[in-house]
Amino acid sequence: MNKKTQVGIVGAGPSGLLLSHLLHLEGIDSVVLEARSRKYVEERVRAGVLEQGTVDLLCETGLGDRLQREGLVHHGIELRFDGRGHRIALSDLTSGRSIWIYGQREVVKDLIDTRLAANGTIHFEVDDVSLTGIDSSSPVLSYHRGSQDHNLDCDFIAGCDGFHGVSRDSIPAGVLRAYHHIYPFGWLGILASVAPSTEELIYAYHDRGFALHSLRSPEISRLYIQVEPDEDINNWPDDRIWEELSVRMATDDGWTLKIGPILEKGITPMRSFVVEPMQSGRLFLAGDAAHIVPATGAKGLNLAVHDVHNLANALIAWYRKGSDELLKQYSTNCLDRVWRVQDFSSFMSLMLHRYSDDDGFKGRLQRAQLGYVCSSEAASRSLAENYVGLPYA
Ligand code: FAD
Ligand code: PHB
Repeated sequence: MNKKTQVGIVGAGPSGLLLSHLLHLEGIDSVVLEARSRKYVEERVRAGVLEQGTVDLLCETGLGDRLQREGLVHHGIELRFDGRGHRIALSDLTSGRSIWIYGQREVVKDLIDTRLAANGTIHFEVDDVSLTGIDSSSPVLSYHRGSQDHNLDCDFIAGCDGFHGVSRDSIPAGVLRAYHHIYPFGWLGILASVAPSTEELIYAYHDRGFALHSLRSPEISRLYIQVEPDEDINNWPDDRIWEELSVRMATDDGWTLKIGPILEKGITPMRSFVVEPMQSGRLFLAGDAAHIVPATGAKGLNLAVHDVHNLANALIAWYRKGSDELLKQYSTNCLDRVWRVQDFSSFMSLMLHRYSDDDGFKGRLQRAQLGYVCSSEAASRSLAENYVGLPYA
């Protein structure tokens, strides 16, 4: 079956769905193709921290109702080491900017509800998506749905299909340069049905490894511990996870970690990845399809939102004014922020994780850096302005 749309979007994660929404607000038609089911996409537990700029964009474009009701505004984070907590006063250090805790699940649910309420087209559970003609003025998305083959003629294709998607690999050999760094650790993350033991996020540095206490709501906690990158989740029964978290987060003043039933657990490797440019012909990559940052900076989703904000503006300029100026600048405009965020996420990762090959030297440097970040206003401000997100250019 042959159909036509203006922008064909591969992937119904935050990038693909938000792009479709932003285009719709300007009367531009799109079709989103997603390999997984709606339930799977809505229930995937991932990011939790939204930058001020992300929240502002979601609210300005009509996606703020539930976010403003249920999201939690945070004005600081804690860095914990040597048994003591040190608060980084994010808002005081950044003229009042803050971060919001609102799970990626909720962002995705809001986006799907909003797109479907506006009669937007999202095809879930499609197979064998392939991209052809990206160097022509009419690229095509082919896919199977049910027992039928489909071809979708597009003006443009947005590859929003994450790190393991097909879009990036459809770009002819020799066009992209990839930058890849694998960190020698992973994160074991849990979602637990227990009230958070803290009001603000805690990033803990400990001889046994990094630990992070985050949250999703007054009843649900999200916590992470550093593990080996190839660690087997079966080595981590629930009791062991809670015990390790309690040890790594312990303080001298008797703070205790509340423990409860674990609802979900999984291990994620930590990597940095960027492709340049983020475009080839009429295919534009956005979000994790073009770059991955280690989660220590809480930036992946926020970076995806920045990409699609730029891409939507560039496509709107093309349709409204016939101008391809912003489309030509898309990759450069995104990559400036991508590399700034890579640097910040790498800085946070190198400062907070233990290295198994450390003969003591790295640990001493980490303590010196943590001490500096917590005692110098200039260093705290630098961390704070990156953490809440630098203003959009
Ligand atoms: P994805 O969310 O990966 O969506 C891509 C979609 O494309 C998926 O639905 C996938 O099923 C679909 N797809 C893939 N292949 C195909 C195909 N062939 N055909 C059709 N569809 C396809 N970021 C933050 O900002 N803050 C945080 O606190 C944070 N914490 C994180 C914690 C963890 C444990 C992890 C793993 C990530 C975290 N991130 C965080 C990163 C964030 O989750 C990602 O950056 C974000 O999901 C990127 O969105 P995306 O839409 O680009 O890609
Ligand atoms: C999360 O809440 O999932 C989270 C918070 C902070 C991070 C990473 C993940 O740095």
